[in-house]
Amino acid sequence: MNSNQIVKKFEELFKNEPLLVRSPGRINLIGEHTDYNDGFVFPAAIDKEIHFAVAKNKVNIFRFYALDLHESFEMKVEDLSKSDTSWANYLLGVVAQYKKAGYELEGVDCVFGGDIPLGAGLSSSAAIENGFAFALKEILKAPVSKIQMIKMAQKAEHEYAGVMCGIMDQFASMTGKKDHAIKLDCRSLDFEYANIDLHDYVILLVNTNVKHELASSEYNTRRAECETGVQILQKYDNNITALRDVSLSLLQVHREEIDPIVYKRCKFVIKENLRVEDAFSALEKNDIKTLGALMFQSHEGLRDDYDVSCKELDLLFDMAKRSDDVIGSRMMGGGFGGCTINIVKKEKMNTFSEGIKKEYSMITGIEPEIYSVKITDGTGLI
Ligand code: GLA
Repeated sequence: MNSNQIVKKFEELFKNEPLLVRSPGRINLIGEHTDYNDGFVFPAAIDKEIHFAVAKNKVNIFRFYALDLHESFEMKVEDLSKSDTSWANYLLGVVAQYKKAGYELEGVDCVFGGDIPLGAGLSSSAAIENGFAFALKEILKAPVSKIQMIKMAQKAEHEYAGVMCGIMDQFASMTGKKDHAIKLDCRSLDFEYANIDLHDYVILLVNTNVKHELASSEYNTRRAECETGVQILQKYDNNITALRDVSLSLLQVHREEIDPIVYKRCKFVIKENLRVEDAFSALEKNDIKTLGALMFQSHEGLRDDYDVSCKELDLLFDMAKRSDDVIGSRMMGGGFGGCTINIVKKEKMNTFSEGIKKEYSMITGIEPEIYSVKITDGTGLI
């Protein structure tokens, strides 16, 4: 991603010299739908990024320009509220968090754009929220920490984009570290970096290029189903406040009292949390095969028990699982479309990609996209 165009557009529109910020998308090795259950996740920031050019203005207006869409947006500072322009809401939502935290607001100009594909489950929205939160911190000289910015970005998503997301995406994009994944405890927010050296393997993302409508409504339904499980189980142990605290054996003992759908959701989350721990230990021992096997299991759970996959993701998963050149594969992110993440033999990367492209487009009529990604540093100045 090159920020020259962004600077050029900024100078053309606003005749001013901007501050430059970059903010990455993320992958998640394993630990899906565990973040809002106070569990563990294992994401990393990637070299697909949004870049921002930002400066204060003296006209008391928020003036934004989305370079990729060639669209502009304006709102008076005193009118700050949710708008009908969905992309602008990510920025406005962040401004609203600064306002809540007591910072004096002035007009701000911003041009942004990047190469994170939209709706692909690579957290372009978290990258936008984080990048703008970071830029505002700089231009307001606000003493806010990374954790505070992450929480502001997450709140922006809840309050202005209407998605009740967990904390993984914003956390990964903000705290990413080159060549490392982040094992995050979503309850305490303690985290550890794990060096990702995949030896003869690479991470390939395959984009289904579909995003089913169900995504956000089903996401909120899954949250509710998990909470129902917690309410039943906490009668037996009042230390239980989230599925993070529930063991598989306790779940089994009370199986009869739980609706079968809720039971399946809980079983998936409990097992997925255990898989994150196992994946982290496997990587510490350089055991990529075990990591891969856990990824396969994760997909099967997301498909059969958590019910957030779709036929396009399952097709990509089946093709990957069948291949001798892939040691791990699964759908990634919220589900119902977006990408699969695959650990593929470096020397077979092209053969694998060609095969997938051919078969997937033949069966679905849709061209998939394939990205080879590198793990990078989190949000920061350029
Ligand atoms: C989306 C949400 C995250 C997380 C994942 C599923 O990406 O934004 O908080 O819940 O889905 O793991």
